[in-house]
Amino acid sequence: MISLGIEGTAWNLSVGVVNEEEVILLESDPYKPETGGIHPREAAQHHSERIGPLLKKVFLKLKEKNLDIDVIAFSQGPGMGPCLRVVATAARVLALKLKKPLVGVNHCLAHVEVGRWVCKVKNPVTLYVSGGNSQIIARKRNYRVFGETLDIGVGNAIDKLARYMGLKHPGGPRIEKLAKRGSKYYELPYVVKGMDFSFSGLVTAAKKLYSSGVSKEDVAFSFQETAFAMLVEVTERALAYLDLNDVLIAGGVGANSRLREMLSIMCDDRGAKLHAPPKELLGDNGAMIAYTGLLMYKHGYETKIEDSAVKPDFRIEEVEVNWK
Ligand code: ATP
Ligand code: FE2
Repeated sequence: MISLGIEGTAWNLSVGVVNEEEVILLESDPYKPETGGIHPREAAQHHSERIGPLLKKVFLKLKEKNLDIDVIAFSQGPGMGPCLRVVATAARVLALKLKKPLVGVNHCLAHVEVGRWVCKVKNPVTLYVSGGNSQIIARKRNYRVFGETLDIGVGNAIDKLARYMGLKHPGGPRIEKLAKRGSKYYELPYVVKGMDFSFSGLVTAAKKLYSSGVSKEDVAFSFQETAFAMLVEVTERALAYLDLNDVLIAGGVGANSRLREMLSIMCDDRGAKLHAPPKELLGDNGAMIAYTGLLMYKHGYETKIEDSAVKPDFRIEEVEVNWK
């Protein structure tokens, strides 16, 4: 069975095609803001201009490979409303034109499921860290969020600090590079409340630190050490509480080597194992939507056109999970 998935909740417009075993195709056309962060309308405009040519490219490649699609999956939410609507419209058109079933996929669930698939890990605690989201997720029949950010996602926090220091979007890789050259740690607000955490106070304090004359390198270093320690602390607590031994990284911030290093030190200490999918499947991508759509379709899920409205605030807990 072959599934085509469309992702476009925020910056990355991406189409993936998968079967049960592997990713067959992954083609993306990301929106890159000239200045500042992601503007929802501009991103949606970008997606609506590019979705046609992107799909055309994918279908040409499928024709060359002599492959037919069985299911159309799309990211139904959470995400930016205007972007979600472009993706949902394209998916509906495809499903109607090709007379194929449609499956609306929760974007967070897709990050988790694609990781479980490619890393072959059964029941992990997932640290899902991206621009818009930061959550510790594990499964108890359905998926549950055991801890999450009370304000902004950690990627968003990094991007805000990066912009303030004059770096281009996305700030994550740039901050990571600077932090590697930093050496002096300045204390910054470490905010963990129960199993939840918060980053906006940390951003404000880091901006102040930079304005007071501290080098970009040391600000980036101090910021990363603080933010990542918060995430690792809560992940460790979830492992202990749930008595689990696997950690799965998901989301764009998961590419960060210092975060991975801190997580693996924690995992080693507890005899747990750290798993991470390859970079192209870590951040937003169409293959994760295609794969999760396939998994869901095989377990009896289908989204009728009249139920395919986008869900900008779609939570992972809302998905009734009936697969192993
Ligand atoms: P979501 O819709 O799930 O919130 P997203 O739109 O933020 O996802 P992702 O691709 O999952 O998209 O994550 C993008 C974020 O990852 C950006 O904030 C970016 O700065 C951050 N990022 C990318 N690479 C790194 C890195 N090496 N270190 C830290 N952050 C990174
Ligand atoms: Fe994402």
